[in-house]
Amino acid sequence: MVTAVAYRLAKQQKMREEILSAFLLRDEQLLEVKKRMRMQMERGLKKETHSAAAVKMLATYVRSTPDRTEKGDFLALDLGGTNFRVLMVKIWSGKCRAVEMHNKIYAIPMDAMEGTGEELFDHIVHCISDFLEYMGMKDCVLPLGFTFSFPCEQRKLDQDILLKWTRGFKATGCEGEDVVDLLREAIRRRGEFELDVVAIVNDTIGTMTSCGYDDPFCEVGLIVGTGCNAGYMEVMKNVEMVEGDEGRMCINMEWGAFGDDGCLDDVRTEFDRDVDQLSLNPGKQRYEKMISGMYLGEIVCNILISFTKRGLLFRGKISERLKTRGIFETKFLSHIESDWLALLQLRAIFQQLGLQSTCDDSIIVKEVCGVVSRLAAQLCGAGMAAVVDKIRENRNLEHIKVNVGIIGTLYKLHPHFSTVIHQTVERLAPKCLVSFVQSEDGSGKGAALITAVACRIREAGQH
Ligand code: BGC
Repeated sequence: MVTAVAYRLAKQQKMREEILSAFLLRDEQLLEVKKRMRMQMERGLKKETHSAAAVKMLATYVRSTPDRTEKGDFLALDLGGTNFRVLMVKIWSGKCRAVEMHNKIYAIPMDAMEGTGEELFDHIVHCISDFLEYMGMKDCVLPLGFTFSFPCEQRKLDQDILLKWTRGFKATGCEGEDVVDLLREAIRRRGEFELDVVAIVNDTIGTMTSCGYDDPFCEVGLIVGTGCNAGYMEVMKNVEMVEGDEGRMCINMEWGAFGDDGCLDDVRTEFDRDVDQLSLNPGKQRYEKMISGMYLGEIVCNILISFTKRGLLFRGKISERLKTRGIFETKFLSHIESDWLALLQLRAIFQQLGLQSTCDDSIIVKEVCGVVSRLAAQLCGAGMAAVVDKIRENRNLEHIKVNVGIIGTLYKLHPHFSTVIHQTVERLAPKCLVSFVQSEDGSGKGAALITAVACRIREAGQH
């Protein structure tokens, strides 16, 4: 009898290990991912291959970083996840160089995310109006920087064509349109205040600039939150889509789309494919869907369902709640993997999900979460290794020190995610000494700084 039980348990353990083995990549495989990312970067940058490239490597027209003589009051908007942040940023130059920020966070209701573009931008302008009222600044025509974190084809600093929505947004009538126009029209419709829209930037670039203000070695921005993306300073002679060979330009890589041409199919698991198929944008943003907070919970949930169906978990009984899309939030991963969380508390989480669990179940779920988040962080590290090595090669250096400005809840709150990214970059790009600097101020400060630079250059041109 005892032997029969032991045999069954060992067999179940083996079945689980077999399923999870798809999530264990060796360093050779990660190096291959790094190599493919590098190839995709080249394809995105080159004129000949740009239009068909999955990783678009979008030019941003941000060429100069702050020289710290910038000053003034700026308004910044940050449209990222489900929240929208409006900020007032005061910049002082000279001896009392400082940046002071006031902000308010507003929710973006589902109706606005999935309704018409007009509804979405009217909501944005409604939030700005509330903020200006609160700050008592409705009568000033403030220069504005807009962090708009979606793939856009930038034509000028204040002209940005939305290529496609990502991360749950799907407001109609916006794709193919200039986002600055949509904002200006909404401001006009409201007719309550005026703003001088100067710059629109991706959050990767905002983050890089925000960190770069205090740290001259910062030339990469990384986001690992609801979405995932990176940006960095590229030398102009490699940016074939823009005229001119002098200097450098920030590139919004839009690396979330890495793999959309099938080049990651050998590392995607059946669970990644399922999550992709059921998402709002099937086939798109495949790398992002393997890494970012919006999807990791879903991947774990699919594995748990599969285990349960095979009788390997929860005594083979799936609850209706577990089958609900989005029920297993990525924040559970962070909780579950935190060492302080006792197995008992874990059972309370399962109870909320309508699941009857044993102690063994808790251990198994913890293992699943660990495997999924580890691979996500390794994949992100492999991509980052490609970026820093390219920066090193651009400069023809044997070794280089690069600092990466980073924001995102997954990076910040998950107990192991950041360590795994760091270790992966260290192993895969051994010639680069990379430090990760968390930006506490978010990308909105960066948007304000980019706006301040543009205003400084504009004013200098007028004199
Ligand atoms: C968007 C990027 C953005 C990233 C992080 C992705 O879904 O396509 O533009 O930088 O999320 O917010």
